[in-house]
Amino acid sequence: MDVDLTSHLLRVAQAAAIEAARTTGYGERRHADHVATEAMRKAFDSVPMRGRVVIGEGERDDAPMLYIGEEVGTNAADAPEIDIAVDPLEGTNLCATGSPNASVVIATAERGGLLHAPDVYLDKIAVGPGARGSIDLNASTAENLARIAESLDREVTDLQIVVLDRERHTELIAEIRAAGARIQLITDGDLAPALAAALRGTGIHAVMGAGGAPEGVLTAAALRCLGGEIQGRLMPAKPGDEDRIRAAGIDDLDRVYRTEDLAPGKNIVFTITGVTESNLLRGVRFFGDGCRTHSLVLTSRGPRMVRFVDEIHISDDYRGTLLL
Ligand code: FBP
Repeated sequence: MDVDLTSHLLRVAQAAAIEAARTTGYGERRHADHVATEAMRKAFDSVPMRGRVVIGEGERDDAPMLYIGEEVGTNAADAPEIDIAVDPLEGTNLCATGSPNASVVIATAERGGLLHAPDVYLDKIAVGPGARGSIDLNASTAENLARIAESLDREVTDLQIVVLDRERHTELIAEIRAAGARIQLITDGDLAPALAAALRGTGIHAVMGAGGAPEGVLTAAALRCLGGEIQGRLMPAKPGDEDRIRAAGIDDLDRVYRTEDLAPGKNIVFTITGVTESNLLRGVRFFGDGCRTHSLVLTSRGPRMVRFVDEIHISDDYRGTLLL
């Protein structure tokens, strides 16, 4: 059965974003993540698919819901078999502190269409369609910046690169500055900026540095739809990381994963709903008897769909007048 999952997945992402947004600024990152996960898990129940979580909240023993391997969806015999990567709340700290860039993210593909990446860091470079084919993770930072600038027909000094503000990036930051590019340091949430790099007018040209590998798979899914590129190398940094990588069946620690390695699916659907504001999406806005969400839905198959969805969710007893 060929089912268009886009509207179903949008509804799931919106449900999680609304619940997460209710906790904005409460300083409770675990609680925020929990309510988003719970809302997402519940909303998945009515999606007509035999879904299997490949990127989720962790291994079964550590995560009560949306754990890796969990089956979600209606599970009807004739429903399509789908692999799912989720981040019920990307940027838990951002939501807890009421800062910009928190979102809810879901990517789906046919079975085997999304890499089951271990939960370690992925050292990466992500760019939009204009710079696709120009990056090489094995080249120096200066070389990559020069190539990105050339493909975008700009000077290196015109580029703005997003980097997570972490000690592990001290050298990278110095290299970017020495090359003359500008940097936007972020405290959390390196997925949305990678999408921003793939859209013109956002002022972001690339994301560089090590972030979560699961976020890397989600980024790759989005960039498959948008025509951008990501390259990444798994980076064991904490005790147990090497074991986690080997347990995922990966022996070559030097391997550079490309967009198609991270998200090889032919039929990818990517959905992101803003929880707090970003330069890509509005956050959830509450009013009297309802709220308004802003999402982006992407597909990889057929004519590429890039759909921004601005939706007002009103409760049954709403009697007000909607504002434009
Ligand atoms: P959470 O949503 O799990 O808090 O992750 C946010 C995030 O900033 C990701 O966007 C990023 O890839 C990763 O954490 C970076 O990890 P770390 O905070 O360990 O540097």
